Amino acid sequence: MTMTRRQALRLLGLGAAALTVPGCSLLGRTPSPRLLVGGAPLPEPYTVPLPLPAAARPHRTDATTDYYELVQRPAEVEILPGLRTPIWGYDGQFPGPTIRARSGRRTVVRVTNRLGVPTVTHLHGGHTPPESDGYPTDLVQPGAHRDHTFPLEQRAATLWYHDHRMDHTGPQVWRGLAGFFLVGDEEEAALPLPAGERDLPLMICDRSFATDGTMPYPTRGDAPGAREAFMGGVLGDVILVNGAPWPRLGVDRARYRLRLLNGSNARTYELGLSPGGTLTQIGSDGGLLAAPRSLRRVRLAPGERADVVVDFAAHRVGDHVELRNLLEEGPQARVMRFTVERDARDDSAVPKTLSRVEPLDPAKAAVTRDFTFTSGSMHGGTGWLINDKPFDARRVDARPKLGQTEIWRLTSDVSHPVHLHLSPFQVLSAGGERPAGPTEWKDTVELREAQTVEIITRFTGYRGRYVLHCHNLEHEDMAMMSTFEVI
Ligand code: C2O
Ligand code: CU
Ligand code: CU
Repeated sequence: MTMTRRQALRLLGLGAAALTVPGCSLLGRTPSPRLLVGGAPLPEPYTVPLPLPAAARPHRTDATTDYYELVQRPAEVEILPGLRTPIWGYDGQFPGPTIRARSGRRTVVRVTNRLGVPTVTHLHGGHTPPESDGYPTDLVQPGAHRDHTFPLEQRAATLWYHDHRMDHTGPQVWRGLAGFFLVGDEEEAALPLPAGERDLPLMICDRSFATDGTMPYPTRGDAPGAREAFMGGVLGDVILVNGAPWPRLGVDRARYRLRLLNGSNARTYELGLSPGGTLTQIGSDGGLLAAPRSLRRVRLAPGERADVVVDFAAHRVGDHVELRNLLEEGPQARVMRFTVERDARDDSAVPKTLSRVEPLDPAKAAVTRDFTFTSGSMHGGTGWLINDKPFDARRVDARPKLGQTEIWRLTSDVSHPVHLHLSPFQVLSAGGERPAGPTEWKDTVELREAQTVEIITRFTGYRGRYVLHCHNLEHEDMAMMSTFEVI
């Protein structure tokens, strides 16, 4: 049942030979992400302190529910030292305030739009009723607001919220509309994992800055072809962590939990430590793994998260430990730097057993569906298609039944990080192979070039309309999205 690269190519209508001619292939003509060169003077790496996003406070709380308010508004912030950068932020901040919520406790977030354009807010990784999920055409007009109800009937996990407006998600997230939403539960709270100041959410994303400090983004209004030139994805030349360029952080000789989120539009990272060290992965998109995993590098495509523990007691006071992107060389290979500053007491531990992750049984799947992710022509131009069709909010492409287990077979031309709303899934195979690690809950999976990935999921909780889409935001905006309706 698993599919090899050769079979994947055949499914796409490409011969197996297509990729084997050196230096030229059918896939070679498909646009890939492109670096937008900024021009602003860039800071020395590791000079700006790492900021932590503000904690959101509920403005009201009752027996069942916590109520939050976020106001989307323009602001000017200092990202590059000495320059003012106009952003759009939740509460005027980039990243937006961090919401810390509890599993099973209802959280209502009122989002008010004080920007000049419509917005949509989605909780990525949320098991959310359809009317609160941020369907891409559920617009909040300037001056209006919308209440999102999150029942949070789900396990502890590192989630994030971000803009999801149809055709405009790329530019609106680029301008700053994204923040963390951390769900905790009793199981996780009972573990001796690093906590408090040693539990760090890290939103990694790339941006480019013009000499005046603005963050340019290729749009339809630019020179003809400017937007098309970047249809493969926009890459920035500065790596930001929590909105700061190549920041530094002083740490204790102790364990830290790093909640790594790739919030970039189109950049993929393979994160590793330099001069070396172990990343102990404890969690994934959908929360804790069954057991920790020791890794030298963690790969994150846009939208993906990994919770890792790093033990700085393996280093001496005064040592520098860099977090680097091993897929790059030069400035974009840098991410941030930790400096071990002091000895400190550390009561934390990484237990051998973290949680239970029941594998879903493929024999129980009632349906197998196929989705291909390719470039192709649409509306007279080129775009990104699922099963040869561009997104159309009036069309429903799949109707899974509530409670049903399904296998979805996802096949790519070039690389696509594919994200499924509502329903966390497990990866059965990628390129014909079982995944290397233990079973994990995911909501976003990277399809590598010309690859078929089989995922298994069970549609639970809510009936209604949701989307499956590519989380390369430029692909998403150029129609790589499909509606499914749980019936
Ligand atoms: Cu993170 Cu549908 O998005
Ligand atoms: Cu999502
Ligand atoms: Cu894509």
